Amino acid sequence: MNFRPAQITDLARLRELEQGVVEAERPFNANIRAGQPHYYDLDALISSPKSLLLVAEDLGRIEDTNQIVACGYAQIRESKPYFQHPQHCYLGFMYVEPNHRGKALIQQIMQRLLTWSQDKNINTFYLDVYAQNTAAIRAYEKLGFKPLHIEMQLSKLT
Ligand SMILES: CC(C)(COP(=O)(O)OP(=O)(O)OC[C@H]1O[C@@H](n2cnc3c(N)ncnc32)[C@H](O)[C@@H]1OP(=O)(O)O)[C@@H](O)C(=O)NCCC(=O)NCCS
Repeated sequence: MNFRPAQITDLARLRELEQGVVEAERPFNANIRAGQPHYYDLDALISSPKSLLLVAEDLGRIEDTNQIVACGYAQIRESKPYFQHPQHCYLGFMYVEPNHRGKALIQQIMQRLLTWSQDKNINTFYLDVYAQNTAAIRAYEKLGFKPLHIEMQLSKLT
């Protein structure tokens, strides 16, 4: 497996993986709109010095465009003034292709993202995950993440 920062030329493949996240999360939130909604500003994540979007490539694959099998990003964000840390690192777009799951691939990506942030002396990390996404929660717990707050929802649409 080869790990590298995403490039603009990866956009089409990354858009496919983005839809993988959307489809994975539909069972957890009926309010996700139909079609192919976009979650991420991929251009900004790739080009900004405040973020790192990493991809994992399965170099054994022959088709060039499908070599990317997993991804995740880290983004340095300003923290609320009431926190001790002026900045924190937010992690998102964690995705592993179904046939590569269960091999701790996401930890390999996330560990690199944590190191990238810690090299900038930013040592506090946040991410969001649906409470019912047990596979993802297990993956993050292996890196030391713990649940912090619960977002509650009331949807009166039928
Ligand atoms: C969440 C995700 C990134 C985890 O990646 P991963 O590299 O498979 O992570 P791990 O190898 O640590 O496996 C985590 C858990 O996934 C589950 N798992 C194991 N093999 C699996 C498989 N073949 N298929 C699906 N889930 C599997 C297990 O519960 C495992 O925990 P365990 O090792 O304690 O049993 C991946 O499942 C994924 O892409 N899911 C769809 C997108 C998504 O939900 N992203 C997270 C948004 S917050």
